[in-house]
Amino acid sequence: MSQTQRDTWTTRVGFILAAVGSAVGLGNVWQFPFQTGANGGAAFIVVYLVAVFLIGFPAMLAEFVVGRRAERNPIDAFVRLGHRNWRIVGVLGTISAFWILSFYSVVGGWVIRYILGSARGSYFSGSEAYFGSISAGPEAIFFHAVFMALVIGVVAFGISGGIERSTKLMVPSIVLLLGGLAVWASTLDGGAAGYVYYLSPDVSALRANIWTILPAAVGQAFFTLSLGMGAMITYASYLGRDDSLPADGATIVVLNTLVGLLAGLVVFPILFSLGVEPGSGGLGAAFITLAGAFAQLPGGRILGVAFFVVLLLAALSSAISLLEVVTSYLADNTDVSRPRIAVGLGAAIFALGIPSAFGLSILGWYNAIAYNLLLPLSVLCLLLFVGWVDAGDAVTELRRGTGLSESSALAWLWFVRTIVPLGVLVTLLLGLQTLAVDAGLLANPVV
Ligand code: PHE
Repeated sequence: MSQTQRDTWTTRVGFILAAVGSAVGLGNVWQFPFQTGANGGAAFIVVYLVAVFLIGFPAMLAEFVVGRRAERNPIDAFVRLGHRNWRIVGVLGTISAFWILSFYSVVGGWVIRYILGSARGSYFSGSEAYFGSISAGPEAIFFHAVFMALVIGVVAFGISGGIERSTKLMVPSIVLLLGGLAVWASTLDGGAAGYVYYLSPDVSALRANIWTILPAAVGQAFFTLSLGMGAMITYASYLGRDDSLPADGATIVVLNTLVGLLAGLVVFPILFSLGVEPGSGGLGAAFITLAGAFAQLPGGRILGVAFFVVLLLAALSSAISLLEVVTSYLADNTDVSRPRIAVGLGAAIFALGIPSAFGLSILGWYNAIAYNLLLPLSVLCLLLFVGWVDAGDAVTELRRGTGLSESSALAWLWFVRTIVPLGVLVTLLLGLQTLAVDAGLLANPVV
């Protein structure tokens, strides 16, 4: 075990912004609006909010409790808490972080490419062909490397000097830019139809597809709150102080949700003002349809740059939390310097991501494994640990530094023991079914 002093966040706001930075990512700006559009608009938002607040929020507190008490990376945390065998949960989370960052970085690379492409107007003559040419192949690999280099550059400087300092700039910039874009979008002729599409509930669409929408909403809740990858365990392990975990967690969840909603207020008026159907989402659709819209709007180059800069900041502040998960393990356990660890691991993750830069189907497959298997499994194991194995200490830890009553803490524990794992279990089973159908092991879904 390395004997060097562990870094900590300098301020409470620093921790909150870093965690919001992790949570606000491609999931919010890229996936959420399109998923909402495809799944019944406001009706989906209601299901999603229930998933975020009833399932995601308690699960996030469970990660915080483990991290802050152990003050260690997700793997050693369980050893420190006296449950050596449960470190498998940390191993699972760390593997998930490694895996997810590998293709998240490929998409981050596209975003950098789109910033340049917007400035030059490169996709103005055909946004679909442009996406095809930059999303796979050597160019995609090159920008995947550039993105990863940025991530390494931040993580190498550590918690207070790297992650805290950069997210303090990035997160407010995301909110300001997105807010500005939303105001601008509200001035577009014909944009109002976008709000209607986005915010009016279509209950029949929801009812017809409830078994795909439910796991999608729960999965999206975990992904957007950065759960199941050890990220929140790791960030909480650098707290070194007794702030209120429930209050900080609630702030993070609310801000993250607001940014997602705000992104929808940008995307839909833009598309509807041009009469473009948002389509079903899908990996490339957001890039293709939005870029196509920028190409037709006055000032499209500037708008494109602004939008893709938001996307880049969101992706970057999330990706650093993933690299930090893996880095913290080696930083806690070896005497190798942090910059070297970050470079070495970043290079390995880059290599793992290369296949997904060769084609969308491979990227989709990487994503499906993460979404349907790794995340729910990892969250489920963590919940079992906190709810059943470590319950007494977890309740005490949750109340530390707060005026939280014992009955409120016990209510949280009850959630962590029952509803939350049940919701995750259903998600996991449906996710496995999706994987089995995709792999051809099952001809049709059972439910
Ligand atoms: N929360 C991020 C998003 O919404 C993704 C992410 C997951 C980031 C896990 C870090 C850890 O895009």
